[in-house]
Amino acid sequence: MADDHRESKEAKEFGIGIPVAPHTYYLRGLDNVDWGMKDRLARIFDPRSARTVMLAFDHGYIMGPTSGLERIDLTILPLVPHADCLMCTRGILRASVPPVHRKPVCLRASAGTTVLNELNDECVLDLEDAIRLNASAVAAMVSIGGPFEAKTVRNLVRLVDEGGRYGVPVMGVTAVGKDMVRDARYLGLASRVCAENGAHLVKTYYCSEGFERVVAGCPVPIVIAGGKKLPENEALEMAYRAVSDGAAGVDMGRNVFQADNPIAMIQAVRAVVHDGAKPGEALELYRGAVGSGSPRGRRTARRGQ
Ligand code: R5P
Repeated sequence: MADDHRESKEAKEFGIGIPVAPHTYYLRGLDNVDWGMKDRLARIFDPRSARTVMLAFDHGYIMGPTSGLERIDLTILPLVPHADCLMCTRGILRASVPPVHRKPVCLRASAGTTVLNELNDECVLDLEDAIRLNASAVAAMVSIGGPFEAKTVRNLVRLVDEGGRYGVPVMGVTAVGKDMVRDARYLGLASRVCAENGAHLVKTYYCSEGFERVVAGCPVPIVIAGGKKLPENEALEMAYRAVSDGAAGVDMGRNVFQADNPIAMIQAVRAVVHDGAKPGEALELYRGAVGSGSPRGRRTARRGQ
């Protein structure tokens, strides 16, 4: 027994004299959050590129069965393998997304009025249910300058408090009202307000003038929403300009699932976000995938009904 103890002691290697390498977290502004939160964020943002391609399909919570989202099983599930993260509501997650995809979920955690009413009069769900769903992040709408500004900021603050308790990151989603101009001044203010109130990531819109200032003024990662459907070349150009200006990726919905070939489109977006493809190169990838008759997601699924 005494001999055994002596042998194992001799075999040990403590690396005396080799300094322990310091760890710096790879996402801006998030060095000081807890381990669990960093682990969840690392599921969303690929540590190799420090970027993400999130697939947003939460539109139904305000818009009902949006074009392209009528049947999640037919249109969205084929895209899931190509996304870094899924953004959806808990209702759709439980009803339509089988729990076998092994993708992180950014759960839409605020809800209230729909497009039939004044938007953004919202509450937030109980974080316990997000944890039950194994969400890697939760998202709340924040309507800066709108009639429900204070209410939506309170929603964000509540989620940040609860998220901090359990290590769940919170995404502030900057809402844009009908009358609000999507310029750098407004988007920069709204994004900064989200970060100041503790959001760990922010989703906002791209603006062609001054977006680099929006990113620079927000101390945590920003991802862009795609907005209304654009021609594929314009959507790829927007994604390219956004990441070139410092965005940490996209949280894109309609420009993917309403594309003529959604699978080819999300692959082209990935090329821009993760591989540094130029918009023209990504468009070639898109067209090549369409031309080669690669799987077509939505259309294939519809033919198969
Ligand atoms: C908007 O708040 C919705 O939550 C969507 O997730 C968001 O707008 C991204 O989708 P899209 O790229 O279609 O704008």
